[in-house]
Amino acid sequence: MSHAVLEHGLPRPASAEEIASARCPAPSMQEIVAGDTVPPPPVLAHEEPAYLGSEPVKVDRYFDQSIFEAEIEKIWKKSWQWVCREDHIPEPGDNYTYEVAHLSYLVVRQEDGSVKGFVNSCLHRATKFKRSEGIGMGDQIRCPYHGWSWNNDGSLKAVPCSWDFGHICPSKMALPEVRVGHWGGFIFINPSPEGPSLEDFLSPLPEHFAHWDIANRYVSVHVAKELPCNWKTAQEAFLESYHVMETHPQLMKGVGDANVQYDIHSDHITRFYAASGVNSPHLANPLSEQELLATMILGDQNSRDDSLTVKEGETARNVMARHLRKVMGEAYQCDLSHLSDSEVIDTIEYHIFPNMVLFPGLSLPMAYRFRPIGSDPNRTLFEILFLRPNPSEGRIPEPPEPYRVAEKESYSSAPGFDAAMGYVYDQDTDNLRAQQEGFRASATGVQQLGNYQEVRIRHFQQVIDKYLNA
Ligand code: FES
Repeated sequence: MSHAVLEHGLPRPASAEEIASARCPAPSMQEIVAGDTVPPPPVLAHEEPAYLGSEPVKVDRYFDQSIFEAEIEKIWKKSWQWVCREDHIPEPGDNYTYEVAHLSYLVVRQEDGSVKGFVNSCLHRATKFKRSEGIGMGDQIRCPYHGWSWNNDGSLKAVPCSWDFGHICPSKMALPEVRVGHWGGFIFINPSPEGPSLEDFLSPLPEHFAHWDIANRYVSVHVAKELPCNWKTAQEAFLESYHVMETHPQLMKGVGDANVQYDIHSDHITRFYAASGVNSPHLANPLSEQELLATMILGDQNSRDDSLTVKEGETARNVMARHLRKVMGEAYQCDLSHLSDSEVIDTIEYHIFPNMVLFPGLSLPMAYRFRPIGSDPNRTLFEILFLRPNPSEGRIPEPPEPYRVAEKESYSSAPGFDAAMGYVYDQDTDNLRAQQEGFRASATGVQQLGNYQEVRIRHFQQVIDKYLNA
């Protein structure tokens, strides 16, 4: 497509068809992977683009208290959401407390290995059984205030001074349950008894992840940081690559940013698919294939091998994928020969409504979660987990306690983060306070979104509106 370009860099007014189909003129993601030695699986070798309109999006949705309260009632009380990994509660009696906004839930492993979920609030005078999020264990659920207790299956066990509660029918005092679902080694809850099953809610994610054994992973890193912004502000920073050239200029040598592929798979599932080992289309002086390889090697702690060279007929992507298959296969004690070049080196990022981001690739094996904290629309808890393949032999490591990073502290101080990776997350989250404050300062009360590069943000907001209007 060619547009005449005005002085400010914007094209002349285009037709509706041109607006809907406009793309960066650099090679597309599908054109890039077509040149790989080992081609991607069918699930990556296709696109599901969507044009969802160009209307401005109001900014009060990021700070308005009444909208925030509506989100709690219509999204957080009605959506499937990830609570913990199966490994957090492996044995009967193990429990995990999960908090989102001012809501609090408890999942408990049962004697038969199943999991039940309860509201974390006593039926006597509402005290929380567990005062804060995290792992626990025990043969009962006991309130710390007056000592009422429940069996782990939620049935009432004992009421101290029961002579004073003759009006209570024990069979009607079971703890209120929430729905529990399992997928990919994650335990999910849905506080609502109505709505789709977890399988339907996640579709087509399980089909896509048939290639990636996400259940067979362990948590090697768990970092949490409180961010001074709305829960949507925070995760939208990770839904587009448009910000790379301004926020992460160091990444332009080796990452295709303007030519990232954005897919809309369903209401709850979208995808971002970005090439590594290529020049950013914005780069004024593109690197050679050997130089691109050097940037990838320097970016990988496990791959500082200066002897790697790009031979005639090869690309930096081919060489790096071959090298990482070997290095990571040895590190994880598994055969990675079945993985395509793209699965080894590229960024494949799925967003799962309302607050989960999952990367199936092995070089960046992360999961993100974004949750509102308490009753304040301007506070978010952002977590980063690294999910590495379970060792083929020996004990599977237990999940670590989340490491809390203070707002002004660099992620690079967290265990498992090197300086370069920590710096990228610092750059990402440094924008958020300014954006949250800018929403309130806005003169127009709206934001403009790119039709393609920011389509996942528009889609996310449109799905939120569906929930709020339901
Ligand atoms: Fe729980 Fe009284 S509030 S036992």
